[in-house]
Amino acid sequence: MTTSKASQAVVLAVSALVAVCKAFEEISSDRCDCFLTNGSTASYFAGHKFFDFRSLPQHAYVPAHIEDAYESSYTTPTSEYFTSEEWTSTWRTQGWNNSRTVDAGVASVLMVHSPNNVYVETNQDGDPASETFMTLRTIRLREYQSSAEFESVDQGYQFVSMRMLARTIGAPGAVTAMFTYRGAEEFSRIQESDLEFRTIDPPNTVQCTNQPAVDGEGAMVDRATRNVTIPGRLTHRDWAVYRMDWTPADTTWYINGQNVASIAFQSPRDPSILIFNSWSDGGSWTGNMTVGNEAYLHVQWIELVYNTTTPENSNREEGQCYNVCSIDETETVGTLVLLQGSASGLLDRTRGFGSVVSWIPWLAMAMMMRST
Ligand SMILES: *[C@@H]1O[C@H](CO)[C@@H](O)[C@H](O)[C@H]1NC(C)=O
Ligand SMILES: *[C@@H]1O[C@H](CO)[C@@H](O)[C@H](O)[C@H]1NC(C)=O
Ligand SMILES: *[C@@H]1O[C@H](CO)[C@@H](O)[C@H](O)[C@H]1NC(C)=O
Ligand SMILES: *[C@@H]1O[C@H](CO)[C@@H](O)[C@H](O)[C@H]1NC(C)=O
Ligand SMILES: *[C@@H]1O[C@H](CO)[C@@H](O)[C@H](O)[C@H]1NC(C)=O
Repeated sequence: MTTSKASQAVVLAVSALVAVCKAFEEISSDRCDCFLTNGSTASYFAGHKFFDFRSLPQHAYVPAHIEDAYESSYTTPTSEYFTSEEWTSTWRTQGWNNSRTVDAGVASVLMVHSPNNVYVETNQDGDPASETFMTLRTIRLREYQSSAEFESVDQGYQFVSMRMLARTIGAPGAVTAMFTYRGAEEFSRIQESDLEFRTIDPPNTVQCTNQPAVDGEGAMVDRATRNVTIPGRLTHRDWAVYRMDWTPADTTWYINGQNVASIAFQSPRDPSILIFNSWSDGGSWTGNMTVGNEAYLHVQWIELVYNTTTPENSNREEGQCYNVCSIDETETVGTLVLLQGSASGLLDRTRGFGSVVSWIPWLAMAMMMRST
């Protein structure tokens, strides 16, 4: 076959797939054996989770701030949502503080994470896109910076496509973030992929980084980080879908479906936790927030497709994927469609049905080509 004939054949195959895509059938999560993402980082994942904060009016409550640092760190969750199985089986709301880094002279302001700053609130926008959303708040009080963080219970995530519909608003001097994290005794051995919004930056920028972005001499490592302009003339104050794909090859960031950055340099390799936060410590990265000021990360929903090394959290048999599902090709976020397999459930998979396919490279190829 000549090259042009070969590429014609590929184009035909892809357009056939696109035609099929229009008819993708909705399927429940428990019927999916694996999830195939789209884009240049198209990959298979074994697990899926969706957290929807858009319609939780029964939990909507904006708590008053707590002046006492110690009390704020040990306070109870702001609503029953944050004690529900839905939340606690995946996330842990944090209450630690940075007194050690203040003592070491790295931070200049005491920062205390508080469950009081993680809450559901009514969406008061004109023509609101949702009834409610989740907020991560950070406030500069007289004695300290009150801040917000939640981390995954599972420490074994190893490769993930994490997405959120979110915005960042508020006073200069805060950072809001979605990231993967694997700590280490030595700072240089930390593994971490970050999506970070700095409220001191121009609001149309966002920072994408594979840490550490600072070397032993304190100099910036340019290869580790990208200062991205949010596409579509949007700012971080606008709602947008932020997606970070951590794969074996690299970490790639997307905003509203558009690939905005990709970094292979020191992309994480080992099992990690997932974190969302909103904070400030008076250091050079966040800057100082004026006493009495606040900033927020607002989140309508979070969606994850992932692999994990933690057996209890990994519900799939190694390498077996009969029903291949997508969270991208669906019309409605949070629902799944079947890319390949059988929605009818007539096939008995438990008996090791003859045509069980292992993770199929050609389908991943097609998903990649669709998006170019
Ligand atoms: C992936 O699918 C989503 C949802 O259909 C779409 O918005 C996005 O543009 C696609 N992304 C890429 C990188 O192709
Ligand atoms: C997730 O795990 C499956 C099964 O082991 C594997 O085939 C797939 O490549 C993994 N995904 C990534 C992104 O590594
Ligand atoms: C900060 O954390 C330390 C332990 O690391 C604890 O001893 C101290 O009480 C905490 N301070 C506040 C204000 O919560
Ligand atoms: C990103 O670039 C803008 C200019 O476009 C600059 O003002 C801002 O300080 C930069 N942010 C970082 C973290 O480098
Ligand atoms: C923040 O303010 C403290 C004094 O309260 C100061 O020591 C520190 O250098 C300031 N940080 C920045 C980034 O300007």
